[in-house]
Amino acid sequence: MNEKAIGRVLKKWLDSESVRREDLFITTKLPPPGNRAACVEKCLTKSLDDLQLSYVDMYLIHTPFGVPETDGDFQRHANGDIVLDLETNHIETWKKMEDMVKAGLTKSIGVSNFNKNQIQRLIDNSTIKPSNVQVEVHVYLQQDDLINFCKEEGIIVTAYAPLGSKGIENLNKMAGYEREIPNILDNSVVGGIANRLGITPAQVLLKWILERGVAAIPKSTNPTRLRQNLDIFEFSLTEEDMKVLKGLEKGIRVCDFGFFKGFQLGIHTTLAKYKLGNNFLTFFS
Ligand SMILES: NC(=O)c1ccc[n+]([C@@H]2O[C@H](COP(=O)([O-])OP(=O)(O)OC[C@H]3O[C@@H](n4cnc5c(N)ncnc54)[C@H](OP(=O)(O)O)[C@@H]3O)[C@@H](O)[C@H]2O)c1
Repeated sequence: MNEKAIGRVLKKWLDSESVRREDLFITTKLPPPGNRAACVEKCLTKSLDDLQLSYVDMYLIHTPFGVPETDGDFQRHANGDIVLDLETNHIETWKKMEDMVKAGLTKSIGVSNFNKNQIQRLIDNSTIKPSNVQVEVHVYLQQDDLINFCKEEGIIVTAYAPLGSKGIENLNKMAGYEREIPNILDNSVVGGIANRLGITPAQVLLKWILERGVAAIPKSTNPTRLRQNLDIFEFSLTEEDMKVLKGLEKGIRVCDFGFFKGFQLGIHTTLAKYKLGNNFLTFFS
């Protein structure tokens, strides 16, 4: 929902010639209401118009599930549950994603929130392999299996919610979904390493991700914290730090999409209907 604002800033910035387009790496996503072959070009073209760009560097399918096309709020059942599109077809959507690369509208394509089986299926049925997989990764959800698989396949992994996305609690609350989210930034082990190195807990968490060969996209609205999150190349974590941080795994998925009311029930119905097994979503893998 921020592409128009980002587009205005990009235009100003690029027009000022203080930065060149090729020095920027811009990613956006095909949203759940556009998750079907017929919508891919329309959605990407709309994003490019809003961003005031002729191409993006990467275009990702946001989720393995789709919902019906909408201009506003999601369609809902009488009980308030979000209506899911039960005809979502990953292979057909991916073929259109490949066409977008061939048309020069995006340099590369990938997926977000897909699990190993879903990614493998795309690889087996693609002419352009996914170049990136964006999933939740932090010390409480380390994703070893998926990351190792992606490394073997030469796919870059991007960690979303790398700091534990405490703020998602508010989004959940607004949707009537009460769930306490642990604050990883307050973890005493992380804090101990930060104190020893004279850095912040956020810097420890981000460096741990980079050391694993994974990219990280922390979000901050605060200029000081934005700088801090970029300033992670002048210090190192020891092997012992890496080992201790590895021990923090708790299997806690912060972004479980519980803010999509009725979503989990709908997914289970879909699993049963299409006998997809437990591989429809990363969350159920
Ligand atoms: N693909 C997907 O389905 C998906 C799902 C979820 C998120 N994402 C993306 O992942 C990115 C990050 O996710 P996120 O915002 O949910 O989680 P996050 O980056 O783990 O956490 C952001 C929170 O941490 C705070 N923060 C940032 N830097 C900090 C620092 N140095 N010290 C202390 N606190 C700090 C922020 O507050 P302040 O703003 O006040 O600094 C904000 O509350 C976003 O671009 C988001 O869009 C993608």
